[in-house]
Amino acid sequence: MKIVVVGGSGLIGTKLVNNLRRRGHEVVAASPSSGVNTLTGEGLAEALTGARVVVDVANSPSFEDKAVLEFFETSGRNLLAAEAAAGVRHHVALSVVGTDRLLASGYFRAKMAQENLIKAAGIPYTILRSTQFFEFVSGIAQSATDGQTVRLSPALVQPVVSDDVAAELADIAVEEPLNGTVELAGPEPIRLDELVRRFLSASRDARKVVTDVHAAYFGTELNDRSLTPGDDPRIGPTRFEDWLSRSVTQRT
Ligand SMILES: NC(=O)c1ccc[n+]([C@@H]2O[C@H](COP(=O)([O-])OP(=O)(O)OC[C@H]3O[C@@H](n4cnc5c(N)ncnc54)[C@H](OP(=O)(O)O)[C@@H]3O)[C@@H](O)[C@H]2O)c1
Repeated sequence: MKIVVVGGSGLIGTKLVNNLRRRGHEVVAASPSSGVNTLTGEGLAEALTGARVVVDVANSPSFEDKAVLEFFETSGRNLLAAEAAAGVRHHVALSVVGTDRLLASGYFRAKMAQENLIKAAGIPYTILRSTQFFEFVSGIAQSATDGQTVRLSPALVQPVVSDDVAAELADIAVEEPLNGTVELAGPEPIRLDELVRRFLSASRDARKVVTDVHAAYFGTELNDRSLTPGDDPRIGPTRFEDWLSRSVTQRT
């Protein structure tokens, strides 16, 4: 089966492409670095010829409000139109748990717009909403850093490792479309401030985490329901502590 992974050179995309190739599928890794650009439409029709499934794991190069909305709206429109023309049978997309609760944030408004375009397009689809990746914890710390201080909400999160996200997407890509949304989280809830504290400490990073219930997370305040999954999420098995000790060992 021919499967196109849009954003196939990214963190999730690279792992997903490898996972699907190991299962014997014909996989095209599509992104600007291989001549396929969903913003401009360049290379899209050629990449999609004969494809049965498209998995969209692209991300905006800029998280600035206007740029990220433009990215997900324009890319979504171009991609879905090209899929309709090519007769694609299943559109799979990766979104974020809690997107609909976080619309004070420009990034989440853009992800909501992406989801809405998919639902309106008429192509059978499955949306996987994942929690934050372990690999993104350093980006969360960076976005909340001022000098040597990292100001973070103590809201509960339930992060997941990127390999488990890629494995779940690979399963979804070869199954029938759900025409619905499923959630994926890691095995353990943890408070966001504590998660980043553990990461910085294991990385021997001298920055100090300050707990602040009003600290903004990409433009929006959080509570314990903001980023945590609903009643019946799929669970990626990898534990944060195991990933952390593995990745710290690799770096030393
Ligand atoms: N970070 C998290 O914790 C988290 C949690 C849940 C869901 N997600 C979602 O996961 C998805 C993937 O994230 P990621 O961290 O794997 O992304 P990433 O590593 O930043 O990779 C982004 C990918 O998008 C591609 N891309 C950029 N501009 C493009 C364009 N104009 N046309 C086509 N492709 C383009 C890039 O291609 P080039 O390399 O060629 O530039 C790259 O392959 C995102 O949609 C994000 O919303 C993230």
